[in-house]
Amino acid sequence: MGKHLIFIGAPGSGKGTQSSKFVAEKSFKHISTGDLLRAEIAKQSELGAEVKKVMDEGQLVSDDLVIRLLQANIDLKSSQYIFDGYPRNLAQAKTLDEKVLIGVPAIAVYFDIDMNRLVERLTNRRTCGKCGAIYNLITKKPKINGTCDECGSTNLVQRADDKEEVIKNRLQVFQDTASPVLKYYQDLGRLVKVNAELTPEKIFDLISSKL
Ligand code: AP5
Repeated sequence: MGKHLIFIGAPGSGKGTQSSKFVAEKSFKHISTGDLLRAEIAKQSELGAEVKKVMDEGQLVSDDLVIRLLQANIDLKSSQYIFDGYPRNLAQAKTLDEKVLIGVPAIAVYFDIDMNRLVERLTNRRTCGKCGAIYNLITKKPKINGTCDECGSTNLVQRADDKEEVIKNRLQVFQDTASPVLKYYQDLGRLVKVNAELTPEKIFDLISSKL
């Protein structure tokens, strides 16, 4: 099996968009800690309510909970994975290597983008509530207004944390926590940097060339 991919980038840098392309075109499995946490919220459990409070503020959920969710949802022996949104701090990066990957090869891809572009990307994002397809009201509109191109659902939604004030907190958290993670992979010779302002197709080709 080839290398696993670890996608690191600010909110809105395009990790989910590329994950969808790698799943569709290269048979990767996608594991997004954000999606796992949103699924926990949707269950309306006590835990989900706690998670919602943290996510609605744009802060990070506890390392312990996130690793438990991640480990319960992957089987590294059967598939090549994209880790989307994990790790988000140095402790998570070490945990991923020491408790999950344990010597299995994986490279980290950093989605490099000017932070000033992200508020516009995120406030215009819409996601299909049924199949998860990602749209943008400016750069990637669905062919029929309000209808998912992939599955035909008319449930295109704005994420709860895509409000401008929450986005600002999420971007701040990224700026406060990402540098040590990037340095960790850089020092290990496992970091690839891509220009996340290119088109999704070009970014896909660039990442593919590193596999
Ligand atoms: P999570 O769900 O992981 O969100 P995020 O990291 O904030 O990233 P996004 O999903 O918002 O953006 P993206 O990079 O996937 O961009 P997308 O492709 O959609 O995390 C949410 C929350 O969960 C966190 O705040 C935290 O509370 C919690 N959490 C998650 N993981 C955690 C962890 N490990 N530890 C602790 N807490 C955790 O693209 C965005 C928009 O841009 C779209 O409209 C798209 O169409 C457009 N776009 C994409 N690519 C391009 C391009 N190349 N050119 C032009 N437009 C583009």
